[in-house]
Amino acid sequence: FRLPDIDNEPMLNYAPGSTERRLLQEALAELRATIAANGPFDIPAVVSGQAIRSGDVAAQASPFEHKLKLCTFHNATPTTIQDAIDKALKAKPAWEAMPFNDRAAIFLKAADLLSTKYRYKMLAATMLGQGKNAWQAEIDAAAELADFWRFNCKYAADIYADQPPRNSRLTWNRVEYRALEGFVVAFSPFNFTAIGGNLASAPALMGNVVLWKPSPMSMYSNYLVYEILREAGLPEGVIQFVPGDAQLVTEHTFSHPEFAGLHFTGSTAVFKHLWRKIGENLDVYKSYPRIVGETGGKNMHFIHESADVRNAVNQTIRSAFEYNGQKCSACSRVYLPENLAEEFTTILKEEHAKLKQGPVDDFTNFTSAVINKQSYDKIKGFIDDVKTGKNPSTGILLGGNTSDEEGYFIEPTVLITKDPKSPTMINELFGPVVTIYVYPRDEFLETLKLADSTSSYALTGAIFSQDRQALITAATALRNAAGNLYINDKSTGAIVGQQPFGGGRASGTNDKAGSALNLLRWVSPRTIKETF
Ligand code: ALA
Repeated sequence: FRLPDIDNEPMLNYAPGSTERRLLQEALAELRATIAANGPFDIPAVVSGQAIRSGDVAAQASPFEHKLKLCTFHNATPTTIQDAIDKALKAKPAWEAMPFNDRAAIFLKAADLLSTKYRYKMLAATMLGQGKNAWQAEIDAAAELADFWRFNCKYAADIYADQPPRNSRLTWNRVEYRALEGFVVAFSPFNFTAIGGNLASAPALMGNVVLWKPSPMSMYSNYLVYEILREAGLPEGVIQFVPGDAQLVTEHTFSHPEFAGLHFTGSTAVFKHLWRKIGENLDVYKSYPRIVGETGGKNMHFIHESADVRNAVNQTIRSAFEYNGQKCSACSRVYLPENLAEEFTTILKEEHAKLKQGPVDDFTNFTSAVINKQSYDKIKGFIDDVKTGKNPSTGILLGGNTSDEEGYFIEPTVLITKDPKSPTMINELFGPVVTIYVYPRDEFLETLKLADSTSSYALTGAIFSQDRQALITAATALRNAAGNLYINDKSTGAIVGQQPFGGGRASGTNDKAGSALNLLRWVSPRTIKETF
């Protein structure tokens, strides 16, 4: 396969006075003006090119501005879901038979359309709809999405080219990478526009047909992703866009004999529930379904006494608070040696004081609001427990204020605890809250072991040290505590094509998004031996 050169999408920096900042501001203003003039966008389910408006309508509102409704969307009915399955299965033979170069061309074109024609529109949708600031939207809805589409083509080409190493004189061995028999279901989360695009596109690139149920909280940006794929030439029926009640979509897809796989990013509880549902239906299926999931984290920054303290603080602030702590990779617990505690907290206070919070169309705001009321209530509950003494081992070091008047605002909050097993050291809050545990400096190894034993999740983690032996000790002790380990860098910000992303334990099946490992889950290889 001769693909064009594949490289990471260059990220724009939106500096004050730059053309890109002006264009993005215009896109934000235009999106607001369109909604003000015409009301929220009305998003249908789309089944093989047909828009279906069931009338069972829900809405997506901006997290930082309750009044701003981005869109309403029509939940699919059982009939629509059934229809989507039937029509996807009809579209499948032609799609699977399409030469890989042509399938790849569609996703490469989608990446180019995103990078040029739709970049600002997509960023504006992600900013207003999901509460990302310009830079966070850029790394997600422009760079990461384009990277997924392009790098998946490269990895797929490598997979298709991979053949058995040996043939004898009268024998030719071949491996054919067939698509799965049946259809795949993709459930995507609100926190990355790009993840929705990838969960649907990765199986499709390998010749599968997909029913895609995006999160209600990212519906508008995910619909734009879908429209780009259609404009790029994705044949109708290959990806069916099916907004809907999760329970209903699950019931009507997981009970189908042709259900062939689940591509999921979301919470651990939901993933376990879905896995159990699939287990209950095993006798119904033609094949064992592929189950691929990425499900959250409780990621640590572990600091050694030799660390560059300013770097450790800066990386911790970025990891814990960028996108309001709502990356599955966000740092939410810090292990800090007592000899650095004073310096670390002094710099942290200085830096924390500089963080501005508010609507994302003001580019000076570093953080904004959390995604919805459920999330706000959960995070606030943990903070209130500290304030009211229900979590007596833990205190508030910085922040702690909340307000849901205009939007769901939680101030970037730093807690400090005496108990390494206290509630905010072990539970995923999915918000801008980080807890520090100060450990005795001569108990480095013991504390690493403790950190590992309290890691029921294992997505990302970071260690900070200038001492090579300490880095080796930490990386060894935390071997299974993170699927992505960062050394002297923050635990967030994996780049497709550079750091394949995913974790184990309760964080998922670790089938690294944006890698050949992931794509291999969406094929069923056939070995052919021919004797001459
Ligand atoms: N890929 C995202 C990150 O690493 C989730 O932060």
